Amino acid sequence: MVDEQDLLLKKLVDYRRELHEHPELSMKEYKTTDRIRRWLQEAGITILEFPLEIGVVAEIAGAQPGPTIALRADIDALPIQENTGLPFSSKNDGVMHACGHDFHTASMIGAAILLQKRKNEVKGNVRIIFQPAEEIAQGATFIEKAGVLDGVEAIFGMHNKPELPVGTIGVREGSLMASVDRFEIEVTGVGGHAGIPNNSIDPIVISSQIVTALQSIVSRNLSSFHNAVISVTRMTSGNTWNVIPEKAELEGTVRTFQKKAREAIPELMKRTAEGIAQSFGAKAEFRWYPYMPVLENTPEFKKVAAETAVELGYEVVEAEQSPAGEDFAHYLTKIPGFFVWMGVDGPKEWHHPAFTLDENALIVAANYFTQLAINVSHK
Ligand code: NI
Repeated sequence: MVDEQDLLLKKLVDYRRELHEHPELSMKEYKTTDRIRRWLQEAGITILEFPLEIGVVAEIAGAQPGPTIALRADIDALPIQENTGLPFSSKNDGVMHACGHDFHTASMIGAAILLQKRKNEVKGNVRIIFQPAEEIAQGATFIEKAGVLDGVEAIFGMHNKPELPVGTIGVREGSLMASVDRFEIEVTGVGGHAGIPNNSIDPIVISSQIVTALQSIVSRNLSSFHNAVISVTRMTSGNTWNVIPEKAELEGTVRTFQKKAREAIPELMKRTAEGIAQSFGAKAEFRWYPYMPVLENTPEFKKVAAETAVELGYEVVEAEQSPAGEDFAHYLTKIPGFFVWMGVDGPKEWHHPAFTLDENALIVAANYFTQLAINVSHK
């Protein structure tokens, strides 16, 4: 007898490899969209028509009335040259599924196929969202603006986790992934002769002091129960050796795990930059670009997330927080939900040119999200 699970796994492996071979960058996932639509249609799954050129939304209507809940997979790849040596390596030069979104997509197609077969057990509807542009933090907003979340009561998703073995699921209530924001500081002094600095206001010296002072925000202004990272990643000024330039620019990123810390930091940075510049008679302009909020899991769902894994014979561990960002966080600022780590036993970290994973995790993830959707629909 051929095992149904083996057949489904084989299909999901094929899907994942086809996606892996043809990765597309954020907001350019046109062919990926076509593939997902085709595979869902082949399985007889209803596709909901939203005003979306990229991304797909499918829905399984349960046999009994109930809530609408959503499952979400991200579908985009990264501007990385693949170096895995896999026979199904990327055919798109400089583009790679180095974060495993091909795995997320194939797994959720698996969940859609299983839910379609088990729709008698579903109460209400399960909406399955294949979201573009996670890597550039625009996809979740894009999906929300198209009205896809309308009527959705809760949303669930995952990220693969190379450090965890296949069959292990990491759960954690509250903050799981960091907020991601970007800042720029422009310091304007007075340019002049490098040999006569007293006639100038040197933006390089001022910027250096700002960089140092920014580091004390985390250690002196935040509660010791909060954590944050402020990294200055670019410092640009001047173009020769004997001229004091007029301007200097700083750029960098801030990560936190608490909403409160995220709210406090920009004002503290602005004050520090402006205050230091002013003390030298210069000016600093501070610009803040919010990207992604902290990913905060709704505590009430931790129990069902863990129990579902146990019910299927999978291992549950307390999820470790990640300082990476994830735009699933945006959904959780609108509706309740839960995001888990899915063990894939990979040799390399996310975004590595040799990133890969154990494909047996595809069936684990498909089974898990099928059962989770059914269990949540019965709550
Ligand atoms: Ni990712």
